[in-house]
Amino acid sequence: MTRIPRHVAIIMDGNGRWAKQRGQDRSDGHAEGVTSVHNAVEFASDMGVGYLTLYAFSTENWNRPQSEVDTLMHLIGWAIERELPDLLAHNVRIRLIGDIDRIPEGPRQKLLNSQQTTAHCTGLILCMCLSYSSRWEIVEAARKLADAVSRGKMSISDITEDVVADNLDTAGIPDPDLLIRTGGEQRISNFLLWQIAYSELYFTDILWPEFGKADFAKALLDYQRRERRFGKTSEQVSHEAETDSNTDTMR
Ligand code: IPE
Ligand code: IPE
Ligand code: MG
Repeated sequence: MTRIPRHVAIIMDGNGRWAKQRGQDRSDGHAEGVTSVHNAVEFASDMGVGYLTLYAFSTENWNRPQSEVDTLMHLIGWAIERELPDLLAHNVRIRLIGDIDRIPEGPRQKLLNSQQTTAHCTGLILCMCLSYSSRWEIVEAARKLADAVSRGKMSISDITEDVVADNLDTAGIPDPDLLIRTGGEQRISNFLLWQIAYSELYFTDILWPEFGKADFAKALLDYQRRERRFGKTSEQVSHEAETDSNTDTMR
């Protein structure tokens, strides 16, 4: 319990394959995936994770068959509305990340409402990535910075790593400590490319609709066994940890 990641990000993949395995429609897989979202949020909140970021719909997902896109958009709106009382009860704050303007009016209003209604919550911060891709986000940031420079609001030398981070959609959110991808693929699919520079990666074959609290716990245990070196040597890292724990004892 002493090494709970501050920020966990999840690429929720495998809904379609889960449905196909049972001879069902892909949309049944998405619907079942909502239960896994509910459980993951509850678990992260109970464990004291500070931020949970969920990849729910990518920029590239707009290229899926229109009927699947429509079903997904409807489902997202329906699910956020249904979950809202429970999110409030758990003190969960919603933060929307991505090109939300592209979401159809109905579900968009429900999403914006959930963000507004939970704005006072001080528990888990649930970042929902919708119509999101990392390259889109980086291009947007580049445009904002270029605009500021061209209007004389800042100079080129003012552009630092912190300034770039502050102009991404994830501004103010610490980088993920742990990135989980379900569904067996070992790729990033245009998710948080800048932010995961030093995240620990965890891939599991479990399909998203089957990903439960025990599976989440397994990922956390795996994370806790890892040594994060951030470019330093193992000796440096363990020496720093020792110094830290001595300081703790003295307090
Ligand atoms: C993830 O499941 C959900 C979204 C991308 C919206 P998929 O729909 O990608 O499921 P698979 O990968 O086809 O099994
Ligand atoms: C990634 O899943 C996006 C989300 C989980 C929302 P995809 O199923 O779209 O990823 P690819 O296309 O297989 O890489
Ligand atoms: Mg997929």
